[in-house]
Amino acid sequence: MTLAEAKSRHDDLATQLRHHDHLYYVQSKPEISDRDYDRLYRELVDLETQFPELLTPDSPTQRVSESPIKAFKPVQHRVSMLSLDNTYSQEEVRQFVARVQRIVPNEKLEWTVEPKVDGLAVNLTYENGKLIVGATRGDGTIGDDITANLKTIRSIPLTLKKPEKKASPKSKDESDLFGDSSASSLPRVLEVRGEVYMSRAGFQKLNAERIAAGEEAFQNPRNSAAGSLKQLDPRIVAKRPLNALFYGVGAFEGDLAPDTHHGWIKWLAELGFKTPEKIWVCQSEDELLNAINELDKIRHDFPYETDGAVIKLNNFDLREKVGYTTKAPRWAMAYKYAAEQAETKLNGITIQVGRTGILTPVAKLEPVFLAGSTVKRATLHNEDEIKRKDIRIGDTVIIEKAGEVIPAVIAVVESKRPTSAHPFDFQKHIHNKCPVCGGPISRDPQYVAWRCENLLCPAQTTRRIEFFTARGALDIESVGGIVADKVVERGLVREPLDLFELTLEKLATLNLGTDDAARVFGPKNAEKAIRALERAKTAPLSRWLFALAIPEVGKTTADQLASFHSTIEDVAQSQLLRDVVDYHDKSEEARKVRRENPTLHEQLKAELDAIIQRLTDAGFADRSQGKADGIVTEVGPVVAKSVLDYFASSAGKTVIKRMHELGITPTSQKVEVSKKAGLPFSGKTFVLTGTLPTMSREEASARITKLGGKVTGSVSKNTSYVLAGAEAGSKLEKAQALGVTVLDESAFLKMCE
Ligand code: IVH
Repeated sequence: MTLAEAKSRHDDLATQLRHHDHLYYVQSKPEISDRDYDRLYRELVDLETQFPELLTPDSPTQRVSESPIKAFKPVQHRVSMLSLDNTYSQEEVRQFVARVQRIVPNEKLEWTVEPKVDGLAVNLTYENGKLIVGATRGDGTIGDDITANLKTIRSIPLTLKKPEKKASPKSKDESDLFGDSSASSLPRVLEVRGEVYMSRAGFQKLNAERIAAGEEAFQNPRNSAAGSLKQLDPRIVAKRPLNALFYGVGAFEGDLAPDTHHGWIKWLAELGFKTPEKIWVCQSEDELLNAINELDKIRHDFPYETDGAVIKLNNFDLREKVGYTTKAPRWAMAYKYAAEQAETKLNGITIQVGRTGILTPVAKLEPVFLAGSTVKRATLHNEDEIKRKDIRIGDTVIIEKAGEVIPAVIAVVESKRPTSAHPFDFQKHIHNKCPVCGGPISRDPQYVAWRCENLLCPAQTTRRIEFFTARGALDIESVGGIVADKVVERGLVREPLDLFELTLEKLATLNLGTDDAARVFGPKNAEKAIRALERAKTAPLSRWLFALAIPEVGKTTADQLASFHSTIEDVAQSQLLRDVVDYHDKSEEARKVRRENPTLHEQLKAELDAIIQRLTDAGFADRSQGKADGIVTEVGPVVAKSVLDYFASSAGKTVIKRMHELGITPTSQKVEVSKKAGLPFSGKTFVLTGTLPTMSREEASARITKLGGKVTGSVSKNTSYVLAGAEAGSKLEKAQALGVTVLDESAFLKMCE
């Protein structure tokens, strides 16, 4: 066979295999038997062995890379990945629709409704139809490069299918999709957003295999997908039943693109992506609510878990008009379905000590399958709740679970109460001492919960370490759970930062069993843990802020704090946070003295204005949003005060000092908004089109972002500038039609100076 013949056969085989992959993994409609598929595959492998020059990274044989990687590299998304506001109330959905309509009072709104898939958000970047990089969402700006892992998911195209050229649109829908001409060329750049998930069936099968092999079972399909994507060895990932579907786009550079969400979903399907099971296009609020209810009826038949409906404005130009808050679009909303419930028997009650010492009664249940996982324990909240609900041991109870939250016992089925059921005496059970360390407990009259006062209580330390090492915090999987238990029990660790002083020897010989039946952690696991700890040292600021378990600081607030500060010291001494607290205190004071002391009132008002100005300059407040203080993040006075108090306390000071000694200096990977606000292009959006004489589009984009500007894919009235080069197409025309300023390269470079 000549090289030319081999090349032609290679193209043919690759095309056939891609086609069958698509039929099997995306459409679930295979046309050939596994044997026939394997035969084609084998032939391709043989051909590539004989002619290695034919082997390209997007060949169907190149899905599983043979070499594990050391760590995931950070990648910056071209367009940030936002999150969604959510609600459990249909009334709030109506209010959301009304709010959007108020922003664009003269527009007719069209909505789409689609399933909210319970998986992990990913971003795939394609250049000229080839998959270049695949990443996790990360903090929305920077994610982990998990390309090798994503390539193993066979429904993800490595090469985009060329959309068929349509001579004339066959239906109204098609003409909607691309206007009056047809998009047959592949985009130069396309970021596709979607969700990686594990099907319910895949999850059950994987867990059965793990249990049979003596491995720990995964909690639910979502955790199982997350754990799989985190693997550094793609060969392991390839064995996990992962799948992915796509519902959105980020950056786009190309000639023609759909201008509606529904159009995009259809186009993504044409390009070869798996898209949501069903999508509704709704013309009215009533239609929208009907769609939400319809979805609730059919979603349990989908192969993946869903926890809600995502409502999006269909038209892209309107989306730009409606705009965004710092973390989410104003034109979309997630409606979450009510928690799922199950009935089971309450076999007993134990007391758990949390990371802040709170004693929580936990129900021991007859195992029951609920919302994707087997539940054996559920929280009973506190002593008063047990009394109020009259929960007795032996009762049949109703438990509830919504998304990520811990299952809870919500009621008793009294009609099923056996005569043997008996009440639980909380006080008697704990004998006035911590059930774990035996230390003193107290009950603050303001709170319903009892609390263990011993800061060195091993249960508290263990919980703090679990929190510190958990996903979302520092993600040191190998040191959570049983290892956390044992390092505390053996006195090696008394607070999370002690973990960084563990040595390889100490960990390798750590006994995870009992004194009688020892089971050591072993050198291999110890090495893995040490490596994970080393990696954690360089985790971004947002993760550290979350991991430190500062009161009032959750995941979102930690992300937001990090995006406004560069280092932990910056947060500790933040003028921004002091301003937030001051604003609150001074406005209270101003309100009080308004009548009696007009002079002081005036003075306070001037001070308040100065504070607001500083907060606005920093991008932290925006008074046009309607709120008095205009704060656009979740960091209000309560959070700000709690953060400042924490770092001013001796515990907080010790943490900072020790982090320094350990050489841990987390930084924020985001460009500070405070700096951004002072940058020449802040608040400006650019659209690039055509070929520039001396710069690549990447260079131009990088300069714009560096100077505080944003690059978007389509021209609208809100576009500040269109940077146009040779052979600029429809975007230039649109810019001219809308009166948007058009720059050539030299004008742009002048502006950059
Ligand atoms: S749209 C700017 N659509 O939900 C819009 N998200 O709570 C951002 N998700 O991070 C996302 N199904 O991981 C969108 N059909 C869907 C979705 C969906 C699941 C996830 C996604 C996102 C999270 C936000």
